[in-house]
Amino acid sequence: MPQVKELGYVVYEVSGLADWEHFGVELLGMQLGDKTEDGFTLRTDEKAHRWIVTGGPADDLVATGYEVSDAAELDALVEKVRAAGVEVTEGDGALAAARKVERIFVTADPMGNRIELVTGLADADTPFESAKLLGGFVTGAGGAGHQVLLAHGVSRETYLGFYIDLLGFKVSDTIVEEVSPGVVADLIFLHCNGRHHTVAFGDLPPQKRVHHFMVEVTDIRDVGTAYDRCMDAKQPFEMTLGMHPNDHMFSFYVFTPSGFSVEYGWGGLIIDDETWEVRTLDKLHSWGHRPSEVVAELLAAAPAPNKETH
Ligand SMILES: [Fe+2]
Repeated sequence: MPQVKELGYVVYEVSGLADWEHFGVELLGMQLGDKTEDGFTLRTDEKAHRWIVTGGPADDLVATGYEVSDAAELDALVEKVRAAGVEVTEGDGALAAARKVERIFVTADPMGNRIELVTGLADADTPFESAKLLGGFVTGAGGAGHQVLLAHGVSRETYLGFYIDLLGFKVSDTIVEEVSPGVVADLIFLHCNGRHHTVAFGDLPPQKRVHHFMVEVTDIRDVGTAYDRCMDAKQPFEMTLGMHPNDHMFSFYVFTPSGFSVEYGWGGLIIDDETWEVRTLDKLHSWGHRPSEVVAELLAAAPAPNKETH
């Protein structure tokens, strides 16, 4: 069965291009790719780009590019999506050039998220170099990272029909947690390669298309130094350091200048379909991931240390 193989890139439309460039390069440690007609691109590895940032009012995700292994697989996938009655159009040469891919087809998921099915995402002309990281970003066969998208009232059956039946994703697990009395977070996590999840969905309160994008680093020290850089820059945090029980990611969540979040993580689980068992968990966080205001309150409430006994 034809299927997508990995998350290749995302496209954001943002109102503050200068803030975004600072956020990506100076705080997250990405490498500036190209300055484009309407924005810039960011690199996290040898690929020409992983984030394409364009100027505009949306302050949201505007496209997700999924790579397919080769031209024959892409043709078969497009045929399968069309046979299900979903509109797919072939992108022209200008779009393929802007995305730096060989071939591109454009469709949309049931929430209206633009999906680009591509082959041949190009490498950059120069090796990847971060001015901030001790190590690098984890990409490779697991793709650019993962993202959590909002269901906006679309039923799980409907969006899984698109992502599983058409694009070939598999369920990793589900987490259902009553986060406050009467408020239940219910997220489902999907994979298309060894990365525990490439996309997850939940009916969460934010009105944007995306809740967060996760970038993973190879060296745990880079989570700490990125945490310090974001804190020193007074970038607002959604959640401080913590860990997820399903993908074991050790991470923090910082708000982008557009108001959705980036999860900055290390140690994400690689799964093997031969042995993986789908589970339902009842906790989003094994420990930590506390909102910054909760941490501030707790630290402020702690009694002053009795230094005389030390
Ligand atoms: Fe995440």
